[in-house]
Amino acid sequence: MYRSHNCGELNATHINQEVTLAGWVQKTRNKGFLIWADLRDRYGITQLIFDESRTDKTVFDLAATLGREFVIQVKGTVIERESKNPNMATGDIEILVTDLIILNESQVPPFTIEDETDGGEDIRMKYRYLDIRRNPVKNSLLFRHKVAMEVRNYLSGKGFIEVETPVLIKSTPEGARDFVVPSRMNPGQFYALPQSPQTFKQLLMVGGMDKYFQIVKCFRDEDLRADRQPEFTQIDCEMSFVEQEDIIQMFEGLASHLLKELKGVDAGKFPRMTYDQAMKKYGNDKPDIRFGMEFGELNAVAQHKDFGVFNNSELVVGIAVPGASTYTRKQIDELIEWVKRPQVGATGMVYAKYELDGSIKSSVDKFYDADDLKQWAEITGAQPGDLILVLSGDAHKTRTRLSALRMELATRLGLRNPEVFAPLWVVDFPLLEWDEESERFHAMHHPFTSPKPEDIALLETDPGAVRANAYDLVLNGNEIGGGSIRIHDKATQALMFKYLGFTEEQAKAQFGFLMDAFQYGAPPHGGLAFGFDRLTAILGGQETIRDFIAFPKNNSGRDVMIDAPSVIDNKQLDELYISVKQQ
Ligand code: AMO
Repeated sequence: MYRSHNCGELNATHINQEVTLAGWVQKTRNKGFLIWADLRDRYGITQLIFDESRTDKTVFDLAATLGREFVIQVKGTVIERESKNPNMATGDIEILVTDLIILNESQVPPFTIEDETDGGEDIRMKYRYLDIRRNPVKNSLLFRHKVAMEVRNYLSGKGFIEVETPVLIKSTPEGARDFVVPSRMNPGQFYALPQSPQTFKQLLMVGGMDKYFQIVKCFRDEDLRADRQPEFTQIDCEMSFVEQEDIIQMFEGLASHLLKELKGVDAGKFPRMTYDQAMKKYGNDKPDIRFGMEFGELNAVAQHKDFGVFNNSELVVGIAVPGASTYTRKQIDELIEWVKRPQVGATGMVYAKYELDGSIKSSVDKFYDADDLKQWAEITGAQPGDLILVLSGDAHKTRTRLSALRMELATRLGLRNPEVFAPLWVVDFPLLEWDEESERFHAMHHPFTSPKPEDIALLETDPGAVRANAYDLVLNGNEIGGGSIRIHDKATQALMFKYLGFTEEQAKAQFGFLMDAFQYGAPPHGGLAFGFDRLTAILGGQETIRDFIAFPKNNSGRDVMIDAPSVIDNKQLDELYISVKQQ
C-alpha cells in the first residue's frame, strides 16, 4: 500500500495515528538537527519532520538528500505542530517520519511549482505536466471536471442521451477552415475533422433520438485569441419537435443550474435582446451588460451645425464614462491614440467633460454650445462628473470601434467584475452576412439555420434583411453558446444552398447525405452548442480558456511540449500520396 491517507486530509483528530503518505517534495528546510519537508499531492500539502534525536540515522541522512519534486513515500506518526498554520487544512499537525523511501528522484524543475511561479508562459507550456502540479492549473482542471459532471447529470435528468459522432468526416462549414486528414486507403482523398458535429446531430434527429447531447472535441483552423483554440470542446445539443422558445427554456435551465451549483448565483430570468438592439445599444452582438455605458446616437443633435466631420458621417455615437470628467488632457490624448490604433481603426475622437458643477466643455466648442452639449449628455445618459466620448463614421464600423473602447474603459475602471454574472440571450440574428472579400452572402450561423417564416419572401429582394431563428447565449461579454432552429425539408435546404452561392452539383456533392435524409421523415428540430472551455473559464472567473485546458496549443497553434505539428518522413508521405513543396 503506497498510502493510507492523502496529503490534504490529516488534522488534529488524527494525532498519534500511524500513517503512510506518498507525494512530491515541494520544498525542504534543513536546520542541521531538524529537517522539514512539505509533501504535496493533488489533495494538499502535509509537513514532514525529521528530528535527529527521534528519527533513525539512515532515514535522517536520506532526508538530507531530498530535492524539489522527488517522489517519496513516508511512514510516521501524526503529531501536533509547535507553530500552527491556520491557513492550511493540515496546518495543526505534522508527521514525525520513521520510514522514508525515495520512489523517484527529480531534476531541479525549470520553474518553481508553487501558486506564484517564476516560470513564464512558454516554459510552463513546454513542461505543462509540471505546471499541472501547481494549484491554479490543477484547480482549473478540477473545476472543469465539476462543470462536465453537472452538465451530464442535468441533461441526463432531462432525458438527453450522449451519443458519440465520428471525428473523421467531411467538411461541416461553421465559418472556419477545416483541418484535414489524408486517407491512405483512398489515395488523394481527405477526411475533414469536424468543426462541430452539426450534420450528425441533425441526422440523429432524423434517426428519432429526440434529445441528444455530447461533450465533444471540435476543430477549427482559424486565427487564435484568448478565447479560441484550434481544438476545443462543445457541449453540443439537439432536440426534436421544438421551437426556439423550447430550446431557450431548456438551456437557460442548464445555465441557471450551473450558475447556482457552481457559483451559488441565482441569475433569475435571463434578459433577451434582438441582434439589432444589441448592435445599437452596445455595438456588439455579445454585449457585456454587467455595466452601463450604453450608446447614445447623436445624429439628430450633432448634425445641424458646421462640424463637417459629423455632418458627413452615417452615425455619430457616444458613451458616458462614469466619473471620468477629471481625466487630464494627457489621459484623454492617450485614449484618442488608443482608438486610433490599427486594431481599432478610428480616425479621431471628440469628447465633452460634464463637470461636477453642471458645466460642459467639449473639444469642439467652436461648433456646439452648452445647450447642444446638454443634449449629448441627456442622450448618452451622462451625469455631472462623467466624460462623454464620441466617434463618428460608417455606422457598423463606428459601433464596433466604440464597443472596443467601451470594453477597454470598463476593464480599466474595474467594471468587469469576474464574480458578477450577467447572462443574456441575443435573438433574431440576420440569416446572411455580406462578405466583402468573396463579394457574396455567407450564412451568419451556418447553412442549416432556418429563416423566420415571415421573412422568407425577402430572400429574393433584400437577403441581408432576412432574420434567422438563431440565438446566442452571452455571459459577461462572451458568446458562450449559439444555435438555431434548423431547416428540415429538402426544398428549403436546397434553396438556402442556392442563396449561399452553391451550384446544385456542389450542394449535392457536399451535403447530399443530409438532403437525402430530409426525404425520409425528418422531424422539426433545433439545438445549440455551448463552448465548454469558454463557459468553464468564465464560471471560473477568467477569460483565457488555455488555463482550463490540460494541454492547450499556443497562439501559433503549436503544442510546444510534444512539438506538434511536425514534419513527417518521406515514407509516410509516399504512403499518403502527398508531396510536400520545400519552403
Ligand atoms: P458555434 O460556431 O457558434 O455553433 O459554436 C458554438 C460555441 O463554441 C464556442 N467556440 C469556440 N470555443 C473555443 N475555441 C474556438 N475556436 C471556438 N469556436 C467556437 C463558442 C460558440 O458559441 N454547430 C453550431 C451549434 C448549433 O447550431 O447547434 C456551432 O458550432 O462558445
